[in-house]
Amino acid sequence: MFDLSPYNTFGLHVQAREGLLVRGISDLKNVDAENSIIIGRGSDVLFTDDYDGLALINDIRDLKITQDQDSFIVEAGGGLILDELIEDLLNQGICGLENLSAIPGTVGAAPVQNIGAYGVEIGSLIERVECFDLRSHKVEVFSKDQCEFGYRTSYFKKHPQRSLFITKVVFRLSSLFNPILEYKGLDEDGFSDALKVREKVIELREGKLPDPKVIGNAGCFFKNPIVDKDFALKLKSKYENMPSYYVDDSSCKLAAGWLIDTAGCKGLIHGNVGTWKNQALVIVNYGDARPHEIVSLAKYIQCEVASKFGIDMEPEVRIYGHKGEISWESL
Ligand code: EPU
Repeated sequence: MFDLSPYNTFGLHVQAREGLLVRGISDLKNVDAENSIIIGRGSDVLFTDDYDGLALINDIRDLKITQDQDSFIVEAGGGLILDELIEDLLNQGICGLENLSAIPGTVGAAPVQNIGAYGVEIGSLIERVECFDLRSHKVEVFSKDQCEFGYRTSYFKKHPQRSLFITKVVFRLSSLFNPILEYKGLDEDGFSDALKVREKVIELREGKLPDPKVIGNAGCFFKNPIVDKDFALKLKSKYENMPSYYVDDSSCKLAAGWLIDTAGCKGLIHGNVGTWKNQALVIVNYGDARPHEIVSLAKYIQCEVASKFGIDMEPEVRIYGHKGEISWESL
């Protein structure tokens, strides 16, 4: 058996039948896609059970940086830790990823969810993604367009049955500091360089989000729901202080953290699990939680929000059961 506790930031004591630290494509040549799952550092996953198969841990750590006029082309191995890469690049004067500082997890996992924070989504900085297809055993290259990036989604998330192991992410970054500071908290300071933005982002995150090394969690558990504009306006007439952001002419994104908070679920403690006191969207493991405790609390929150606001929230985390990835609805 292979211990998955270090590979899920909820810190759940779950196991896989086998595990493999993948250092390069040659390690993947004999893998059976049907009976394996791909894990980075498990920052955005919930294991509901032991996994009856092979857990492939992305540990490809190659890094190559070349210069193309004002741009830097950064070819980063999928197993590199994203935050370590960001710090390393900023120290070399390579900017662009600073708003994504301190997000846990690997480079390879980042495009799957198209991770985002403080007004930047990683997809906007990606030039291409290279994968090893565990079914055809061929290398496949996806251009930015082919990655189909959307809010917390991508081609890779939409097609989990393709079993694509992300070996390399290629970023196009800049030597010029082009700050994106619209997000509340970042707009108050004048920043002289990208490292200062990184420092501020880390400070903001530390104030709101629990460190998974100290208290198990997988960041935001639910996605911010996108609803019809008329529905959002109706809610806004009832709840004047409700945050909402236009996505396009006909839809609005609402803040799941606010909905959960206003439904009375912030700082809840149910046995070993709870919602974080400073950000209701984060479910935490206070000790020796069992997977079903996290599922029960999340289902409870989902019901409370649905009955108060008529909104059905969707998890952002990916859920894995005994046989592999499963849907939230099946639980
Ligand atoms: N809010 C509350 N109560 C709460 C939490 C939030 O009233 O308990 C309100 C806030 O005051 C704010 C609004 O809801 O007006 C939005 O909250 P916040 O600014 O914390 O951002 P978020 O939309 O909850 C998103 C990402 C985070 C990312 C932050 C910062 C999602 C699901 N989450 O959170 O990403 O760090 O923006 O950019 O998109 C993650 O994905 O794991 C994650 C942490």
